[in-house]
Amino acid sequence: MIIRKSQQEIETMARAGRVVADTLALLGEHIGPGITTQALDALAEEYIHSQGGEPTFKGYKGYPAATCLSPNGMVVHGIPGKDPLVDGDILSVDVGVTLDGFVADSAWTYAVGAIDAEAQRLLEVCQSALEAGIEQARAGNTISDISRAVQTVTEAAGFSVIRSLVGHGVGRSMHEDPQVPNFVSSYRGPELKEGMTIAIEPMITVGSPEVYIHDDEWSISTTDSSLAAHFEHTVAVTEAGPRILTSKERVLVP
Ligand code: MF3
Ligand code: CO
Repeated sequence: MIIRKSQQEIETMARAGRVVADTLALLGEHIGPGITTQALDALAEEYIHSQGGEPTFKGYKGYPAATCLSPNGMVVHGIPGKDPLVDGDILSVDVGVTLDGFVADSAWTYAVGAIDAEAQRLLEVCQSALEAGIEQARAGNTISDISRAVQTVTEAAGFSVIRSLVGHGVGRSMHEDPQVPNFVSSYRGPELKEGMTIAIEPMITVGSPEVYIHDDEWSISTTDSSLAAHFEHTVAVTEAGPRILTSKERVLVP
């Protein structure tokens, strides 16, 4: 069941989204060689609380931290730990905030110090794939229009989209209908309508799209150890087009 949101509910989600965007920016300022993911997580949790929000992930199905911090070949759901980041790493940062009963969810992959050209290209392509997907988040399109845009940009660059992880509706719950795959299949998905709020989140790899779950039962990494990137925005389908709710600006794609 897809829950469409009123204009007022979308404004509340945008306030949650602003806290998410500011948290990602704060971590972006601190990411660099030598800092631990635990230290980054503590910064995020403190900031989210200072803004009157709750870190949505903490306690979700027992998840132990405020953020998911996934380095290099780890795609998503990395549990913050004591290992310091190293020059040349990439780090995917996933943040969810609940504010006044609504959730916003966004992710960004950052360079740690100086990264090589292939890693840089992976980040740029994943960001372009997200932008292309968002552009399709318009009333009258279907979910598969978003999926196709993400997959086309990714595969044109020679990278792979992961099949076993998908985007999702978001609202009072972090995960609502519909699913938002990053690839096309026989699933066209529902037609997009005004008031739908979805998390579009390309998860792409340099090599094979196969992934596995670690023994901690959370972290997910590429089977071939190739680098992975993850960019995500919470987006509302509005009369005026796609509205990104997890951006520092009040972004509307015309
Ligand atoms: N953004 C992720 C997702 O949509 C975060 C979930 S982490 C969890 O699945 F710990 F909260 F599960
Ligand atoms: Co998500």
